[in-house]
Amino acid sequence: MAKAKRPSVKKYNNYIAGEWVRSSSGEWFDNVNPADNTDIVGRFPESTVEDVDRAVAAAKDAATRWRRTPAPKRAEVLFNLGEILRANKDEFTLQMTREMGKVLKEAGGDVQEAIDCTYYTAGEGRRLHGFTTPAEMPNKFAMCVRQPVGICGLITPFNFPMAIPSWKLIPALVCGNTVVLKSGEDVPLSSLNLVKACEQAGIPKGVVNLVNGAHKPGAALVDHKDVRLISFTGSTATGRIIAEQCARDNKIVSLEMGGKNAIIVMDDADIDNAVDGSLWGAFGTSGQRCTASSRLVVHKKVYKKFCEKLVERAKKLRVGNGLDPKTEVGPVINHQQMEKILGYIEIGKLIDRATLACGGKRLTKGDYAKGFFIEPTVFTDVKPGMRIAQEEIFGPVTCVIPFGTLDEAIKIVNGVAYGLSSAIYTQDVNQAFYAMQELYTGICYVNSATIGAEVHLPFGGTKGTGNGHREAGTQVLDIFSEWKSLYVDYSGKLQKAQIDEVKV
Ligand code: UN1
Repeated sequence: MAKAKRPSVKKYNNYIAGEWVRSSSGEWFDNVNPADNTDIVGRFPESTVEDVDRAVAAAKDAATRWRRTPAPKRAEVLFNLGEILRANKDEFTLQMTREMGKVLKEAGGDVQEAIDCTYYTAGEGRRLHGFTTPAEMPNKFAMCVRQPVGICGLITPFNFPMAIPSWKLIPALVCGNTVVLKSGEDVPLSSLNLVKACEQAGIPKGVVNLVNGAHKPGAALVDHKDVRLISFTGSTATGRIIAEQCARDNKIVSLEMGGKNAIIVMDDADIDNAVDGSLWGAFGTSGQRCTASSRLVVHKKVYKKFCEKLVERAKKLRVGNGLDPKTEVGPVINHQQMEKILGYIEIGKLIDRATLACGGKRLTKGDYAKGFFIEPTVFTDVKPGMRIAQEEIFGPVTCVIPFGTLDEAIKIVNGVAYGLSSAIYTQDVNQAFYAMQELYTGICYVNSATIGAEVHLPFGGTKGTGNGHREAGTQVLDIFSEWKSLYVDYSGKLQKAQIDEVKV
């Protein structure tokens, strides 16, 4: 029998100076569907230092024109972008599920988050507020304005293939910067869709540049002398290396890194609601969110009941290809991540000696064998110091930790290296407010899981999660702009601040 011909795989290019171009390496890498690794979504250029040099040069050429374009006009182009994203939402959603694996509804949410971010942040084009303040000398005026920082290098992860690039790209642009975006190597198509939409929206050539590839182009961007700012979302280990390199060149660096987020379930909580939230927080996006609910800290009085309900429901979750509308939990992103997650499950069983209450295995029967599927996994009887309760797993694994008092629970939640998101389920307003005060995280939810942040509030975390910056909201403007203080002396003579005496 004749061998079936493999359909030819589409090749995609980098976007530099307004042109779609190949890499100088002439090499390509495959974008593989994690639910079916026989399905190659596309071939993308394996970019080099030279490609990054060209992209940065293009961003440099375009910088003055873009910076001098009035911010409300920059924003008009971004509103066009919002329209284009909206019009293509269904197609971008499908393509995202195919390259990243998350279920269609969640991929739709990801594209929606990019749309929300675009409209919300474009609105800043008519604000970008500075301030005026009295000067200490007579006939003198003082004010403060935001100015762009220059060329921004944006390095993005796989888990929110369009939302996270948009969180960085749109504020960078509205503030008047030009950018080079390095897409996540597992999900380059969603970044490409976003950049193509920028081109269609009328963003001038060179303002947005895209390079694809893994480590090399990212490192070249971090090393480039003309890049003023690096914005990175990814692992804490990589973020640390980037921060050290940026320190040497005095670059501005904004980091969004790991999490080990927890939900507290008090004894007065609505248990069914808490179980719903825990399942969504732990297994949504197959646990591959930096906001994932990877610890469930449960009051002793309701611990048994909670665990029973949680495990019963976790066992019933439908794992499969995200393109199937019935699927609740998709695959994990690639082989390496799958091995890492399975390794943590082994640590939980053999080193931590926690109780594996459900899941724990890779699924390999039938079509599962073609993808990277792991059963939703729950460990119970977990102690706060165990490795599975301390280290970020970034997969469909959660652990249940019992506690006695709210103060004890807060200590457990705060007792990790990260501080992104936290949550508490309780009906008691005093307990809720006390927890909101004491949980040392950048985001805190009451009666809701640790995931699902909205674009108009600041996003980011304490401790190992970040370096003090916040994305989203108006707070992101403090990353992508620098303050300039302006003094205007209209007295017609020399006045010396701090020295001349002004009569009252
Ligand atoms: C991330 O996991 O890096 O709050 C971002 C959430 C999403 C964003 C997650 N809106 O879960």
